[in-house]
Amino acid sequence: MDYTLRCTACGAGYSAAYKSQVCGKCSGILEVRYEGNPSARFDGGFWSLGRLLPKSKYASYELGNTELVGARRRGLWLKLELQNPTRSFKDRGSVVEIAKAKEYGYREVACASTGNMAYSVAYYAKLSGIKAKIFISSNANRDKIRDIRETHDAGITRVDGDFTEAQGRAFNYARRKRAFLAGDYCYRQEGQRTIFYEIMAQLPGVTHIIVPVGNATLLSGMLKASMEMEASGVIKRAPRMIGVEAEKCAPMFKAFSSRKPIKYEKPRTLADAIAVGYPTFGETALQMLRAQKGSMVKVTEKEMAAEQNRFLNEHGIIAELAGVASIAAYRKLRLPRSAKAVAVVTGGNV
Ligand SMILES: Cc1ncc(COP(=O)(O)O)c(C=O)c1O
Repeated sequence: MDYTLRCTACGAGYSAAYKSQVCGKCSGILEVRYEGNPSARFDGGFWSLGRLLPKSKYASYELGNTELVGARRRGLWLKLELQNPTRSFKDRGSVVEIAKAKEYGYREVACASTGNMAYSVAYYAKLSGIKAKIFISSNANRDKIRDIRETHDAGITRVDGDFTEAQGRAFNYARRKRAFLAGDYCYRQEGQRTIFYEIMAQLPGVTHIIVPVGNATLLSGMLKASMEMEASGVIKRAPRMIGVEAEKCAPMFKAFSSRKPIKYEKPRTLADAIAVGYPTFGETALQMLRAQKGSMVKVTEKEMAAEQNRFLNEHGIIAELAGVASIAAYRKLRLPRSAKAVAVVTGGNV
């Protein structure tokens, strides 16, 4: 779709020819603004997902098409995002991001990650003949780091600090080396929002969607999709969105409950994929969440670990802790008997 970019911090506007995902004036995060409402272009089929995305010279945008399966519990469905090529929902965003990097003529992308995003960015960069430089926090999963380096040939810098520290390093590297800054930015948000569209086609009448939250790119993207579909009248009543954080890293949950701005919190959770102390899209997501009467929940380490076991026993599939945080949260929510809830199982890299 035709689109322009706008800075969420200073309001500066850019055309689609602008070759970056951050504002050239204030370094703020950009957002994609479509010309028209994209949801009119969605016919419910997998192939039409690509039509909802920012126009690109290179992309046919083949993404998504993951299964929605009934859980053992009445009223709960599971969206199996670990069926994506690199076993997490991140692929939906990487497809868009790497297509744009290629279109703009970049030979290298730089990305900070807690693990899965790096995995995915490195995979798609390699397929497109682009070098990937990854900045990853020292507390990230070692097996993920080994795979990113050995399977996808990415350059890796381990950062002595958390994701927020790694993000700063990737930003500076991209600026210095003129690499494309990839990660939790606008093009990824657009790709990841397609999960919402898919769920709406797979389960009309869904009442609640539960998603794990790290940087809140997924949550804010899905809320954006929800607003698009509601504004165009494609759906009558949007499902309630519920964000889930680990109790040992819950900056958004605290801000949501106290109605105060998000404060950085040192991550202490073993769910490495959602160990983010200050979510990039946090304030944006909270604003939309309040407007749409959504909510935030937190889950303990024990609850996620128990859910990981249960998921393996019931489905024969290994999911990571962050991946099943949504199902663990569902058990704590007292949803009405008539609810039709979807828990997004986001990733399976352990
Ligand atoms: C498996 C998994 N679940 C959830 C998340 C959280 O997504 P977001 O950072 O968009 O909030 C991530 C992020 O890396 C992830 O890898």
